[in-house]
Amino acid sequence: MSHIKCKRIAILTSGGDAPGMNAAVRAVVLASHHYHIDVIGFYHGYNGLICTESIAQTKLIALSDVNGIIHRGGTFLKSARCEQMLTETGLQRAAKTLTEQNIDALIVVGGDGSFNGLLALKDYWQGQLIGIPGTIDNDLDSTDFTIGFATAVHTAIEAIDKIRDTADAFERIFLVELMGRHSGHITFNVGIACGAEQVLSFENFSLVDQKSKLKQLATEIKAAQQNRHSSYIIVIAENLWPGGAVELAKKLKESAGIDCTACVLGHIQRGGSPVPKDRLLATKMGVAAVQAIVEGENHIMIAEQNSATCYVALEQAVKHRKVVSQQLIDAQTNILALTAQNQY
Ligand code: F6P
Repeated sequence: MSHIKCKRIAILTSGGDAPGMNAAVRAVVLASHHYHIDVIGFYHGYNGLICTESIAQTKLIALSDVNGIIHRGGTFLKSARCEQMLTETGLQRAAKTLTEQNIDALIVVGGDGSFNGLLALKDYWQGQLIGIPGTIDNDLDSTDFTIGFATAVHTAIEAIDKIRDTADAFERIFLVELMGRHSGHITFNVGIACGAEQVLSFENFSLVDQKSKLKQLATEIKAAQQNRHSSYIIVIAENLWPGGAVELAKKLKESAGIDCTACVLGHIQRGGSPVPKDRLLATKMGVAAVQAIVEGENHIMIAEQNSATCYVALEQAVKHRKVVSQQLIDAQTNILALTAQNQY
């Protein structure tokens, strides 16, 4: 039931772009049109609110602007990481811009860093602050999925399936580094779906004793290779091993004579057309964000829990990093045990 008369919503996309951000902005614009609310797009993340003199930063988004963008990766509003958003001056400037532009509510599509910016703004600006979770990392607590995660997983799986073909042909060992910042959601989901022989991530691998970990890894690879004579794929989370996959490959060669080809998938995981799951999630969340504004909600993140859209306090969403499902970790542990015993 509507009880707030909102006339102008500001929207921006912030942090690492994620496939489906365009679809979310589209949904916000379409839903706002239904409620006769104008949507002002701010470009380049929070910089659009702060650096108002330097570049053209705003646009009243027309329906025609969001026509034909549901399938586009990236974000037409551009994105950025903005350190200034956590400074007194930056926050004051952002609040001033929002006030001067007669904005009633601000929607930010981004990850935890972006939501910390929203939370900080709370003390400087009185309008409604709403977050839509958009990050390939899927590390935001209280939502089952973030926009972009499904596409990133799909992209990485396609790439590793191709690596598997050439790895099989040469009976080679590959170390594939995946994004995810400090979470293993992408690594575990991709690793298991690709049938990777090893999944190395924060949740199952600690660097406390680097030397013995390296030895154990080398022993497991050698044991599996002895009888199988086939490809061997290890997926590894970025930021896990110092120097990443390239350094780990070097160490395996130096310490155990294992030839291992390193491949860093990198930003390919952030691009591309969003898969149906992300388009649908983005559309549901975009519409829900506008409904939340009309209902008078404030300081919330739009979330999806057990397939239902709901609202979660922003503080709650950024309090903890979402953990990888224990079921996935256990499944991989069982698969690894079978590989090591040469039963598979
Ligand atoms: O948060 C999304 C993400 O792609 C992470 O997975 C990765 O660690 C980071 O952004 C990379 O950031 P940048 O594009 O600024 O190097």
